[in-house]
Amino acid sequence: MKFAYRILHPKVAFLLVTKYGDRTNVMTLAWHMPVEYDTIAIAIDRENYSYELLSKSKEFTLNVLPIEKLEIIWKAGTMSGREVDKIAELGIELDDGMKIGTPHVKNAMAFLECKIEDELKLKEHSLIVAKIVHAWADKRFFRETWLEGCGVPMHVGKRFFTTNSKYYEPK
Ligand SMILES: Cc1cc2nc3c(=O)[nH]c(=O)nc-3n(C[C@H](O)[C@H](O)[C@H](O)COP(=O)(O)O)c2cc1C
Repeated sequence: MKFAYRILHPKVAFLLVTKYGDRTNVMTLAWHMPVEYDTIAIAIDRENYSYELLSKSKEFTLNVLPIEKLEIIWKAGTMSGREVDKIAELGIELDDGMKIGTPHVKNAMAFLECKIEDELKLKEHSLIVAKIVHAWADKRFFRETWLEGCGVPMHVGKRFFTTNSKYYEPK
């Protein structure tokens, strides 16, 4: 039972950017799902520094970095912004938000700007429901769907990641 949730993986490993006042943070996030065409849900541990920031600002961005940036994805998910300035430490460059005050990652393959609408507090995690108010994807990698082999990093579990390397089509 302990690893049952991993049957739902692999899942795209996003960089979640949060900002409240002059504090900005990044963390890796793979627990997410669409719940309406313009609405998504993410699950976030309430102990995370990112939770503190997004619960105050009521917004966040989700950013897809290429698999070549796996070290950044791993480190952003294994260090806390409470102890380390991950943005400086990992050399992450940010661009101003288009529709919200929270920035997104410069040169991301895609990003979503989200405004929080609802929260369900579970044991350790909160399920955060948020409306996508702006979305952008690089056409080299995404045209209606992610393009085959474009290198979207997906978390399998533990230290393992995979990518969307081969597509299959029904007859
Ligand atoms: C691949 C990967 C996926 C992760 N997905 C989530 C997630 O969906 N929700 C969550 O709360 N933490 C997730 N984490 C853990 C957080 O990224 C980690 O606790 C991070 O240090 C929190 O940073 P913060 O305290 O700066 O917010 C993930 C970590 C990794 C490596």
